Amino acid sequence: MSANSCLKIMSELNPHFDLIVSQLLAQMSLEEKIGQMSQLAGHEGWIPEHLIHALQAGKVGSVLNEVDLRTVNELQRIAVEESRLGIPLLIGRDVIHGFKTIFPIPLGQAASWSEEVVEQGARVSALESSTCGVNWTFAPMIDISRDPRWGRIAESLGEDPYLCSTLGVAMVKGFQGKNLKDTGSIAACAKHFAGYGASESGRDYNTANIPENELRNVYLPPFKAAADAGVATFMASFSDLNGVPASGNEWLMKEVLREEWNYPGFVVSDWDSIRQLTVHGFTANDKEAAFEAANAGIDMEMVSSTYHDHLQALVAEGKIDIEQIDFMVGRILTLKYDLGLFDNPYTDPSSLPKVLADENIAAAKQAALKSCVLLKNSNNVLPISTNAVNSLAVIGPLANDGYEQLGTWIFDGEAQHSQTCLQAIKDFVGDDVEVKYAKALKNTRSDDQDAFEHAIAMAKSSDVALMFLGEESILSGEAHCRSTIDLPGSQEQLIEAIAETGTPIVLVVMAGRPLTLTNIVDKVDSILYAWHPGTMGGPAIADLIFGVKSPSGKLPVTFPRTVGQIPLYYAQKHTGKPATNDSFVHMNDIPERAAQTSLGMAATHLDTHFSPLFSFGYGLSYSKFEYSNITLSKNNIAIGDTLTISVQLTNTGDYDSDEIAQLYIRDLVGSVTRPVKELKGFQRIHLTAGETKTIHFELSSDDLAFYDRKMQLNAEPGQFHLWLGGSSEASLRTEFNLIDAK
Ligand code: BGC
Repeated sequence: MSANSCLKIMSELNPHFDLIVSQLLAQMSLEEKIGQMSQLAGHEGWIPEHLIHALQAGKVGSVLNEVDLRTVNELQRIAVEESRLGIPLLIGRDVIHGFKTIFPIPLGQAASWSEEVVEQGARVSALESSTCGVNWTFAPMIDISRDPRWGRIAESLGEDPYLCSTLGVAMVKGFQGKNLKDTGSIAACAKHFAGYGASESGRDYNTANIPENELRNVYLPPFKAAADAGVATFMASFSDLNGVPASGNEWLMKEVLREEWNYPGFVVSDWDSIRQLTVHGFTANDKEAAFEAANAGIDMEMVSSTYHDHLQALVAEGKIDIEQIDFMVGRILTLKYDLGLFDNPYTDPSSLPKVLADENIAAAKQAALKSCVLLKNSNNVLPISTNAVNSLAVIGPLANDGYEQLGTWIFDGEAQHSQTCLQAIKDFVGDDVEVKYAKALKNTRSDDQDAFEHAIAMAKSSDVALMFLGEESILSGEAHCRSTIDLPGSQEQLIEAIAETGTPIVLVVMAGRPLTLTNIVDKVDSILYAWHPGTMGGPAIADLIFGVKSPSGKLPVTFPRTVGQIPLYYAQKHTGKPATNDSFVHMNDIPERAAQTSLGMAATHLDTHFSPLFSFGYGLSYSKFEYSNITLSKNNIAIGDTLTISVQLTNTGDYDSDEIAQLYIRDLVGSVTRPVKELKGFQRIHLTAGETKTIHFELSSDDLAFYDRKMQLNAEPGQFHLWLGGSSEASLRTEFNLIDAK
């Protein structure tokens, strides 16, 4: 596509584009245009001389990581008043799960399966960060993540394209509000385009090899959904996708994003990722890197200066078309216009609600409440009735650590605002119950067991041991990957020691990823998985422990039994030799010198069961739910039709609670093999004890479409299975056919 036709498409897609292009672009020198394409790092509270000069010369389009309000307003003033054309700045910041009020990590928010929770979290983040002049954030991260070794799984919305798309769109809406011009709306950024979550061996920044068909069916849908929802920007991934690093990937950026999707927003590189094209061995030097990135259509360069240093020469040499540059700059200016920055680039925090306002704190508590997943609850040890216990032993390094409960990517969150579990438990029980506390381990990685004895003695003399274990924040997040994902340090030994006392154990896990809990799952009575729950983790967890609310979160990602099962996800292919319980044989049960073909010859490991420890979509409640009577509006639907599915959901337990009803399908025969189950819908439903509701889902033939062998998006006629239930292991099934009505 020529740059001219790009401009035409742009002006059709965005009515402001023409105005910007004709009035401003016409006045800009090439140097000023390249300036708009450059994003520089801030210096946290001061402006160095070189930055002042660059701003005055119109050589900066955006500054990231400056959140001191006075400095931000001064940056804007210099850009607007002291540069020739007075173009305001985009001020970028990673506001990933909260600014001052910290919400659960995104993976935790995904466990809420609630668009409302996720949208509200982003809304609060936008309002709070706006008070410091931030007008652009680098979220949502919508990389499909199927490898819990990867530290950035914490920042993701899980393993499933449908869940990730739905919640990613909710996050975009929360950040951007109804109109980007509104005070308190900030531009969002869909990242990291694309395939970053498939980094080999879960090592951050590693190569991603994803066949195009899988890329289109699994990894790209959340980005397409974000683009359709109007996300203002995209960020290119650091990683090499099938041999071509994303930051120079013309196919991905031009063919897919622009030509197929008609995406009108702009693309920013990741930090230094254009310069790194040379480190990848994809280009020989910075100039080639600038060429490849600009040619692919990376509109803005984050931090490195290859555009600044080489784009002028590349244009002069005729390698990069000036129309292409206009197009890129036009997209950046359009966002500035859409944000209202040309009308007023300054921030007056008095026009915004205060950070950490009561309603923000309340929203963070709601999010934490809905994010916790109850994985196990033997003998109904939870909820604890304060009438039934005299003393509680609170044990573990995460029980009273306001910092660690916040999780990764909290540039602006502060531990002093956190409410910890120990404090919340004490507040909840008051004088009625004695609460004893032992940290037992210095931190989650510690192997020093000297303090175990005290914890054991405490547990012995208590009615219930509440253990707060997991991972500190720094063990997940960018560049914080692990090769084993057990509870680190001596935490498993601590659990064993406490288990020997015979006191019932409630284990609360705070972690940035699914951990392998196989070694300890049988040693504890209850497990509440709290992720890193944020500022209000303590009160939310206390409410769940004492039954003020029932847990209602469900897993957004599969929990493997052992790291060797990875990648393990529910939407796997059936294979030609699927594993079954009948065929499964553990290696300890194989007779010596058994014949090679003596086993089931199925897709499984010899040393662990093929199933996960906890499945995608799984999560217990204090109540019980029954699904019955699935009915379909018809058994055969034609292409273009919509099916209505109804099911009765009954709360058969004794607690009022939310349930997350999940709809899965299986396309039995496909021109490309189809997953054994695919999530196609979910609803968070509140039911009082004993209540029954009939709930309805709609499924159109478009929802059945997938990319075929020719990379065409089509729904293929044939038979489908459909399940409704409370996890990916739902067993209530019906069937329908998609018919070719031609
Ligand atoms: C991360 C991005 C982030 C950027 C700016 C990079 O290292 O990969 O996700 O937005 O830094 O902080």
